[in-house]
Amino acid sequence: MTTAIAHPNIALIKYWGKAPGPLNIPASPSLSITLDQLATTTRVTTQQRDRFVLNGVETDDRKVAAWLTHLRTHLSIPGLSIETTNNFPTGAGLASSASGFAALITAINAHCGLGLDATACSSLARQGSGSAARSLFGGFVELHAPEWCATPLFDAAHWPLNVVIAITDTGRKAVSSSVGMERSRTTSPYYPAWIKQTEVMFDEAREAIRERDFDLLARLSEQSTLNMHALMLSSQPPLLYWNGVSVVLMHRITALRDSGVPVFFTIDAGPQIKAVCLPEAVDVVESALREVEGVRQLVRAKLGGGARVVND
Ligand code: PMV
Repeated sequence: MTTAIAHPNIALIKYWGKAPGPLNIPASPSLSITLDQLATTTRVTTQQRDRFVLNGVETDDRKVAAWLTHLRTHLSIPGLSIETTNNFPTGAGLASSASGFAALITAINAHCGLGLDATACSSLARQGSGSAARSLFGGFVELHAPEWCATPLFDAAHWPLNVVIAITDTGRKAVSSSVGMERSRTTSPYYPAWIKQTEVMFDEAREAIRERDFDLLARLSEQSTLNMHALMLSSQPPLLYWNGVSVVLMHRITALRDSGVPVFFTIDAGPQIKAVCLPEAVDVVESALREVEGVRQLVRAKLGGGARVVND
């Protein structure tokens, strides 16, 4: 039996759209921070037939099954019982598939003695879920051409940003990321502009992080979020992942920043808002978000480490 743990990551420069082909290669680079606090814990044991248990419930997860079938075309992996638990809502825009595939490949690699390094694991995790490639590493992480395996940019100590996550709905999203991305690629008139702009902003964001330039990173991250959601809205049928509370929270965070608090928002394919701030601002940010009606839960996180085996 082998157990591994991985944390979700949040992209500050988002990817939304894949290159054609079977390997799940993103169409544009992305840059993320890995969180602590939120975690997926995955335990694998050898058994005759595969079995997948998510949060205590046996589930028929076709994405995991297809991924395992693909892995077995070139790696020796026996039948596995996979038991995975998230300490946060699953499939709700909180990157559970990122931490999920990162924890799973880390556990399988150790359990089956595959001898893969974190870079190779990142590449395989990406084939399950694009963002999962980044959860293999901690701190600030980038994912870009030509290898499309994530690489660590800086560790958490470089710039210990804090994140306050406002959960506004714990339900699963109506349209999965994979379906949504394909819809945007094939129907949005803005898709080529989105890809081009992301490439430019990716380089700028790297520099902002290197220089610890909070104002620049805030501008680029919010722009990446809003560009992605504009792309989603311009898809046919439109993809609207926000609810009313998400919009109120965006206004609240912008107003806080205008009043001098170092904070910005970022949002993925769901209605949750992640407020990224400097450590000295975290109490003010948390109390301001707590006052917003409709916020169900607030979770504080710092930057966390990469995926790892926790026992054997
Ligand atoms: O990991 P995927 O392929 O389900 O896509 C994740 C997409 C976003 O979270 C919205 C953006 C990102 O770069 O993480």
